[in-house]
Amino acid sequence: MSHDSYPMRVMDAAEHGLTLPAAPLRYGSGGKVPARRDGLAKVTGAALYAADRQAEALLHAAFATAPVARGRVVALDTQAALAHPGVVQVYTPANRPPLAQHPDEKRHPFNFRHEALQDDTIRYAGQPIAMVLAETPEAAAEGARLLAPEIAAEPPRVDHDAGTPWQPEMVGFFAPAQAEVGDVARGLAEAEQVVEVEIETPDQFHNAMEPHAILARWEGPEKLLLDTPNQGPVMIAGLVAGYLGLPEGAVEIRTPFIGGGFGSKLMIYGAMILTALAARDLGRPVKTVLSRAQMYGPVGHRAGTRQRLRLGIGSGGRLTALDHEVTALASSFEDFVEPSGHASQHLYAVPNLAMRHSARRVDRGTPVAMRAPGEASGSAALEVAMDVAAEAAGLDPLAFRLSNYAETDPATGRPFSSKALRECYAAGAEAFGWAGRPAARMGRDAEGRLIGWGMGTSQYMCTMYRGEARVKVHADGTASAAIAGVDMGQGAWTILAQCAAEGLSMDPERLRLTSGSSVLPDGAVAGGSGHTATAGMAASEAGRNAVEQLISLATADPASPLFGAGNSGVVARDGRLSRADDPSRGESYSEVLARAGLAEVEGQGVGERVQAHREGYAMFSHGAVFAEVAIDPELAQMRVTRMVGAFACGRILNPRMVQSQLEGGLIWGLSFALHEEAQYDPATGRILNADLAGYHVPAHADIPQLTTLTVAEEDPYVNALGVKGVGEVGITGSAGAIANAIRHATGFTPTRFPIRIEDVLAHL
Ligand code: MOS
Repeated sequence: MSHDSYPMRVMDAAEHGLTLPAAPLRYGSGGKVPARRDGLAKVTGAALYAADRQAEALLHAAFATAPVARGRVVALDTQAALAHPGVVQVYTPANRPPLAQHPDEKRHPFNFRHEALQDDTIRYAGQPIAMVLAETPEAAAEGARLLAPEIAAEPPRVDHDAGTPWQPEMVGFFAPAQAEVGDVARGLAEAEQVVEVEIETPDQFHNAMEPHAILARWEGPEKLLLDTPNQGPVMIAGLVAGYLGLPEGAVEIRTPFIGGGFGSKLMIYGAMILTALAARDLGRPVKTVLSRAQMYGPVGHRAGTRQRLRLGIGSGGRLTALDHEVTALASSFEDFVEPSGHASQHLYAVPNLAMRHSARRVDRGTPVAMRAPGEASGSAALEVAMDVAAEAAGLDPLAFRLSNYAETDPATGRPFSSKALRECYAAGAEAFGWAGRPAARMGRDAEGRLIGWGMGTSQYMCTMYRGEARVKVHADGTASAAIAGVDMGQGAWTILAQCAAEGLSMDPERLRLTSGSSVLPDGAVAGGSGHTATAGMAASEAGRNAVEQLISLATADPASPLFGAGNSGVVARDGRLSRADDPSRGESYSEVLARAGLAEVEGQGVGERVQAHREGYAMFSHGAVFAEVAIDPELAQMRVTRMVGAFACGRILNPRMVQSQLEGGLIWGLSFALHEEAQYDPATGRILNADLAGYHVPAHADIPQLTTLTVAEEDPYVNALGVKGVGEVGITGSAGAIANAIRHATGFTPTRFPIRIEDVLAHL
């Protein structure tokens, strides 16, 4: 069965149309690092993203959006839209087909309230207020324009000071808003010096290259196929089914290629539900592709914060207290609060430690997770405060961090499952040449630019969910793995195949991976840097389980050279089983299957953390980032000229993918430090720079020479693979390192991100 009316190139259309051939390319000195399985399909254009997909009798959808941030839609000219050639239907809150579950209802922490045209209230600018269906995308867009909404606008509350104070109990997804260890007031009172840093961070948008897109087609009254990029396809398929009143398993989400998610594709959002609903109502497949501007508001962002850090410094440059206070912007209709305070809770040895979050509800779209949610903005502020404190203590920034090195988790007192941060500091400092850093300003280079060196510590938690996988060994000596793993560019397809092959003790080139669909075993969400640990462990365990079955078959078979060897006496290697006591006696997997008359054996595997380890240890990836800046006051130019990051992330499964992830993290840090900011018009509440011209992200010319290193780290507790996360740790520490390099060059302590050249020049 094929769902598609388009020709399949490169990809194998067999089961779900999502299987890629094993990549034959290899690189690296050991010749053992598999290249991306999706690489060829992507560079040749054969990889189909959701918006690329076609269907017979397809209708196209476009949204009309709110031009102001607060008020009410009084009227829409649906007659004008419907009169436009090609327009088939217009949905507004007045005629939108009913849903089985109200979109305001929250039955799951990942189930945010999003607009599914449930009422005419405007809660933020850019909010979808009507949906137009037409024969072409152009007709749909024109129909949406013709709706010319009449709005009863109210003054928007978009900034911190205009927001309504709100005290959440939880921040992020499941974390407490407040915590205190020891007595911070006493710790500050006992300090020899107290430094205080206040920093504001802006709203930032994920800006994935691929826009959110949905193609919905009904293959029966209880069978819905959604092609849409998503970081948690099994979970989201279940939520969509709930809205549409469908039984479990009725919705399939296919998400083979994701052109960047970063958290914005972690959730369900209104367009998904409405596209499915429209397709059912009109009896035709419907495709919705959000415009770039429509990705600013309805699909989440990183919330702006105001943060205040107070650090008490005692004798020998030891911290006596750390107080991290965060006020984050929240929407008026959802409860997600940026958990910035968490960045300071597990990193430095402090006897008196506190974090406090509060929020201001404003008329902006709801924030969600964005790459290192909380840690990215919290770390940027914390690392600046640490440099201010180091200066007050008269210590080099690295020496100050080392004098406050946490041997156990300061927030919980637990030992770390592993922590090679000292090695990161040493390796990063060595590669950067940090030992030559003068304590005073560095002065100017030959071109008259002010030079500065700064550093920051990286830390990100090791998340694990519960994931499942299925792995088969076939009679022809090949293998296959099936898992709803999510490859959003990080390399999951390649690494999950490696993990399955490792469990099988086989060459990954002999293994096909089928992935990217919600009907496959649930590999859990790709988020929180926990996907490889979770899905990879499941794949590896499934492979091991298949091999155990082969061993049982062989050792029970009198015709096998392994007969009677017992499970513990058999070694699996490179697709073969042999006796532990005599490696010359053995046979291949296919020989075992052939004699047993079996076409295949199927192994099942689960990836999850051992409960006792979860409770007993603090688990984090770590790193140290070093940056150099050059500031030209005459040209009003500020550049990062080089960055070095050294990371400890447990076992490195694929150095090629890891390097790419860590470099991406450093670039996100640079972007945080110098570029990104959504600007809101206080009069209308609209985002003034809702496009890639006005919203700055670094271009190639902004990215200097990047060096990423990994240090050896063995972790027996984090999971069976010894794998920590690499997706988010690189953004932490790096924005702070750049801010601190600017401090070193100029003496200017930033009070807001992104750091603006005009703020720096005003200080000089
Ligand atoms: Mo992410 S912010 O873990 O998708």
